[in-house]
Amino acid sequence: MIPELDDCVLDHIAIAVNDIETTKKVYEDLGLTFSDKREVVEKQGVTTAFAAIDHNAHIELLEPFGETGPIHKYLEKKGPGIHHICFKVKDVRAKCDDLKAKGYKLLNEEPVPGANNCLVNFLHPKGCGGVLIEVSQHLGE
Ligand code: CO
Repeated sequence: MIPELDDCVLDHIAIAVNDIETTKKVYEDLGLTFSDKREVVEKQGVTTAFAAIDHNAHIELLEPFGETGPIHKYLEKKGPGIHHICFKVKDVRAKCDDLKAKGYKLLNEEPVPGANNCLVNFLHPKGCGGVLIEVSQHLGE
């Protein structure tokens, strides 16, 4: 069954990169176009760039901003690669409460601001087969 369109759709696949400007070529060669917008999410220590795949899904490139954020650490430990997948949900708080009740561990007590005017939270990869999963609610344009 296909979920209701705005309850749980793929929003982005996030890829940790050392340098957005050199890595984006791979996806451009595949036929995607990156927005010129580069957004720094200072609290997460990242610079982000997005390319739309369809009306919902994007490729998000994550480049470390500074040397203390999780992406910097990730690159040092594992090198570049897929970092997380993100599902867009209607109500991130309701979704997180539901997931907590189902026994999942969330990385933040409360949703935090993400790129593109979103509220986001993450499910701990240990409870998700090794995949870091983000749930995100768009707050509007
Ligand atoms: Co993300």
